[in-house]
Amino acid sequence: MKIMEVEGGRTLEGTIRVSGAKNATVALIPAAILTDEEATICNVPEITDTEALCDILRLLNVKVNRASESVVINPQDMVNLEITEEYSNKLRASYYFMGALLGKYKKAVMYFPGGCSIGARPIDLHLKGFEALGAKITTEKNKYIVEAKELHGANIYLDIASVGATINIMLAAVKAKGQTIIENAAKEPEIVNVATFLNNMGAKIVGAGTSTIKIEGVEKLHKCFHEVIPDRIETGTYIIIAALCGKNLRIDNMIPEHVDSLLSKLEEMGANMEVGADYVIISKKDTPYKSTDVKTAVYPGFPTDLQQPFTVLLTQAEGKSKITETIYENRFMHIPYLKKLGADIVLKNQTATLTGPSELKGCEVVATDLRAGAAMVVAGLFASGKTTITNVEHILRGYEQIIEKLTEVGAKISLKEI
Ligand code: EPZ
Repeated sequence: MKIMEVEGGRTLEGTIRVSGAKNATVALIPAAILTDEEATICNVPEITDTEALCDILRLLNVKVNRASESVVINPQDMVNLEITEEYSNKLRASYYFMGALLGKYKKAVMYFPGGCSIGARPIDLHLKGFEALGAKITTEKNKYIVEAKELHGANIYLDIASVGATINIMLAAVKAKGQTIIENAAKEPEIVNVATFLNNMGAKIVGAGTSTIKIEGVEKLHKCFHEVIPDRIETGTYIIIAALCGKNLRIDNMIPEHVDSLLSKLEEMGANMEVGADYVIISKKDTPYKSTDVKTAVYPGFPTDLQQPFTVLLTQAEGKSKITETIYENRFMHIPYLKKLGADIVLKNQTATLTGPSELKGCEVVATDLRAGAAMVVAGLFASGKTTITNVEHILRGYEQIIEKLTEVGAKISLKEI
């Protein structure tokens, strides 16, 4: 098992460069099998989720040429095999192979795990979309068989603006016969990045980034080149670290508009911040932040993935602040560890109420999930003394070179195998 040790209370100066977006990458890699030729994707982050998906490509006999920040995918000799639990269990986003294999072969057979630690996370909307396109779905325990004689366009209304369902239906619809309309589609930037990738291959998708996406089915998809957008959640995590520990700390290669909701909250709280075209420079304050209330929402609202790291910043706001989670039913597993570090937090239903500022003292904590783990890193960098974080495999799934990036700007943080 890997653990992280953080010596907190240090001022961080210099530049952190944001990597490619995990939540775009994990959809782009499965989507690449839809081309009949070859797809080159650059700015691909080196995180364990990327490797897990490349392993699934290799299982399906897809040629994968992984360079440092890019991957070349050639599915010309691929075979449509069943994706076993050993492969699909490594990450939930393996479910994008359902849409991609259905879209390419009209058949997908894969094991898919149920929910995860932050919630039940059903895939009913994905399956509803596949059925609307003409697929028949049979399930045996965790095994899904999704099959269609023919895929035809359909009008699909999503009861929840689900990121995964929006993307998965897009993957299944790009080669269906006729027009598909997705209503109440999710509007996250990662969806636009995937739609652009598919259009670069010759798909006909309009409206990605709005709540209505139209897809005209095409026969063939050709060779293409594509770039992953910067990771807005990694961006936000480092912005929060800068607000707590930075001295002119520059977060580079990012898209300010993608973190608008966070930046406006920081303005409201009185952050020392300069926002450029593709960077933000932030210094910590020597007086407490103003308190504020936050509610997570679908894009462009405040992202649920930043709820946990942002809670750490709220521990340093004067008086009472509230943060409400509206997307997942169990995304507060970081709270007991923030309280152990010294935070004053009362959790009631889906709202955490914090009273600050509170002194945080390093101690032993656990990364219960990816973004809770990120919150532990944020807290450990700010707290006085040493913080030890266990279960850090969660963190390494979503933050490329996090140790190197933080060490580069003056953090004392290390990864140990125990
Ligand atoms: C994506 O998950 C992200 N993951 C999540 O990031 C992110 O938190 C989430 O979108 C919301 O922004 C990836 O992109 C790989 P949803 P996804 O479908 O697609 C319910 C991280 O930390 N729902 O938008 O699974 C679901 O239970 C991860 O990087 C259904 O009920 O999220 C949830 O309550 C965590 N039925 C809500 O919708 C469905 O068929 C939003 O889920 C699908 C979803």
